[in-house]
Amino acid sequence: MKITIIGFGVVGRGLAKVLYKKKDELEKNYGEFRVVAICDRSGAIIDEDGVDLKEAIEVKEKTGKLINHKKAKKVDVLDVIRNVKSDVVVEVTPSNLETGEPAKTYILESFKNKKHVVTANKGPLALYYKELVEEAKKNNVYFRYEATVGGAMPIINLAKENLAGNKILAIRGILNGTTNYILTKMEKEKVDFETALKEAQELGYAEANPSQDVDGLDTAAKIVILANSIMNLNKTIKDVKIKGIRKITPEALFLANKRGYTIKLIGEIKEGYLIVEPMLVPIESPLNVKGTLNVAMFETDLAKEVVVVGRGAGAEETASAILSDLIWIKKRLS
Ligand SMILES: NC(=O)c1ccc[n+]([C@@H]2O[C@H](COP(=O)([O-])OP(=O)(O)OC[C@H]3O[C@@H](n4cnc5c(N)ncnc54)[C@H](OP(=O)(O)O)[C@@H]3O)[C@@H](O)[C@H]2O)c1
Repeated sequence: MKITIIGFGVVGRGLAKVLYKKKDELEKNYGEFRVVAICDRSGAIIDEDGVDLKEAIEVKEKTGKLINHKKAKKVDVLDVIRNVKSDVVVEVTPSNLETGEPAKTYILESFKNKKHVVTANKGPLALYYKELVEEAKKNNVYFRYEATVGGAMPIINLAKENLAGNKILAIRGILNGTTNYILTKMEKEKVDFETALKEAQELGYAEANPSQDVDGLDTAAKIVILANSIMNLNKTIKDVKIKGIRKITPEALFLANKRGYTIKLIGEIKEGYLIVEPMLVPIESPLNVKGTLNVAMFETDLAKEVVVVGRGAGAEETASAILSDLIWIKKRLS
């Protein structure tokens, strides 16, 4: 299977490292996964015989730009999508929750050129889910996006495949590791929000501009994707009632603890309503996971409650979800 990777940041390189490290094992179990093109903002390396992934990673990590690779060219990403012979486009550019771009254009162009798409990018899915899924169908290509919600945690495919036949009545969970880290720290060390945020930033868990995480937009985008893909709703971010964690105090956490609860930023889909807000969670609840962990609980008619816990971010962790989507497609192309 020939693959084009668009975006060679944390996740793009994480995937390349995994494909390189597991090359023999993957080939033995599923057949060849050959990366024929990689793009960043500076240019692209294209090699239909297979890009040397180790070399590409080295050049990118040493110089910050793919164009410094001896085989790289300055080409438009859309031309790579149109002209390089590949079966799948892996789209891993930054998530833009206002326009969904440039990912939306890249994904639609891939569909038009009969290329399957795997993405980790929340933006286009949280804003244009219906349009994208319909375009994929119209062009008869697969569109997979497990990595958009909960990083490594199997959640979309778990619900759609392993829980197939169940009616999913509700989904609730912690889908943002940064806020979970901050609340855990505030609870354990009785520090205020600003102090916990500062430490999360120093450790690289929170962005310099933490707004999307702490004000709940990141979680909102993820529950929109879950609502549409798992519960067959037709929602966008505008349909979510959102409240972040800036107003939570160590005193509120202390009082909650005294009554047997903790406070978590929960994303919830129930009876067609989408909510993101700090909620009281019983200390014994499986939703009370600590640190940067993510968790999701499905309430279903047959299986009843199903809970999945895992790492919501990280290079290899996110690559794990992308790889599972690639293998899913590979099995259907063989
Ligand atoms: N990091 C995680 O743990 C994680 C987990 C789950 C999902 N995700 C999602 O995965 C995606 C990638 O995340 P990341 O952490 O890898 O981001 P990142 O480190 O910022 O990397 C983004 C990459 O996209 C490239 N890019 C940006 N604009 C582009 C354009 N117009 N055309 C071509 N390439 C472009 C950048 O190029 P330059 O290198 O030239 O700047 C960079 O290589 C995001 O949508 C994110 O939300 C990330």
